[in-house]
Amino acid sequence: MTSTAVTGISELVTNDPARERGLLGVVQDAAVVVDEGRIAWIGPETDVPDADGRLELNRQTMMPGFVDSHSHLVFAGDRSAEFVARMTGTPYDGGGIAVTREATCAADDEQLRALVAARVAEMNALGTTTVEIKSGYGLTVEQEARALRIAAEFTTETTYLGAHVVPLEYHDDRAAYVELCAGEMLEACAPHARWIDAFCEPNSQYAFTEDEARHILTAGKDRGLLVRVHGNQLGPGPGVQVAVDLGAASVDHCTYLSDSDVEALAGSGTVATLLPGVEFSTHSPYPDASRLIAAGVAVALASDCNPGTCYSSSMPLMVALAVREMNMSPEEAVYAATAGSARALRRDDIGTVRLGTSARDLAVLDAPSYRHLAYRPGMPIAHRLPGTVL
Ligand code: NIG
Ligand code: FE
Repeated sequence: MTSTAVTGISELVTNDPARERGLLGVVQDAAVVVDEGRIAWIGPETDVPDADGRLELNRQTMMPGFVDSHSHLVFAGDRSAEFVARMTGTPYDGGGIAVTREATCAADDEQLRALVAARVAEMNALGTTTVEIKSGYGLTVEQEARALRIAAEFTTETTYLGAHVVPLEYHDDRAAYVELCAGEMLEACAPHARWIDAFCEPNSQYAFTEDEARHILTAGKDRGLLVRVHGNQLGPGPGVQVAVDLGAASVDHCTYLSDSDVEALAGSGTVATLLPGVEFSTHSPYPDASRLIAAGVAVALASDCNPGTCYSSSMPLMVALAVREMNMSPEEAVYAATAGSARALRRDDIGTVRLGTSARDLAVLDAPSYRHLAYRPGMPIAHRLPGTVL
């Protein structure tokens, strides 16, 4: 069978305003034809052309698969005790990364690969079709390169994050670690990475200052990597300005923003990626997405799935939190978790439903409307298309 008519789509979210009015370009009572794994026809169900097979969705929603543009899946170990302490007031400061580093470095390749595979499977099961994966729990040349080699088995969106924290053995000589990140470690990691990232956060003694982050990111950029930044997570800081100055695709967290940060983002090609699972899991105040959207800033949503600040990769949960806690409409949140996060990865082949879109990049909701992602928090309504259509 080469072509399948997928019918009974109550709402088809295209994210294509040229097809249908509104941010999400929703086609009501729609059908699509998938031919050789790609969308070959989109339109009202009443006009659907003949195909070799048929899949009836019985008034379910079809949408672009979630694009999770920020995750740290290559890790071993458990920090649930740290989470419990935070729920009763212990603040997050980045110090726990060392605990995960120890467990990660102690795991062999097979163990790490199995952990990443299980986490990617969890994501896929909840409608995520593209995932970015960072290194950052190795912090030596060999361990960072190993993490990226394993990540690259699962995605092309791999990010070198040697500059996650300054490891303990370099606390008396930070400059030496910065040089390692910008030199030998970068050389070993660049062949396995598309992106470079740095945790630019002067509010954490473990993370990197503005000058340190600029130095490492600039070296990565000169080496041909694309730039993204962890910034403004724990307090106001220089992360946003560093990201904008270096032409980063995205600055992630953006929990504490000044008016000049918002202005800088609005006039830039840098996406503000919000990670509401982090605020949830660290008991922190949520950023106000409506402030960014009103200023014209491009906004993305991602999970940041990691053992310290958010051990959840559920993009439906991120949508629900964004709507409940960050002043986003369901429409804005769904757009940010698909087209917005595709933009944060500088990808124009995903995040929308158009002619030519791969069926592997689609999600189906067991619900009549995309609004149910926020309306039914915690419910497993999002899936990928069944394998028969792929
Ligand atoms: O994005 N902020 C830096 N990195 C992660 C947390 C990593 C950890 O605590 O293990 C984050 O929140
Ligand atoms: Fe992160």
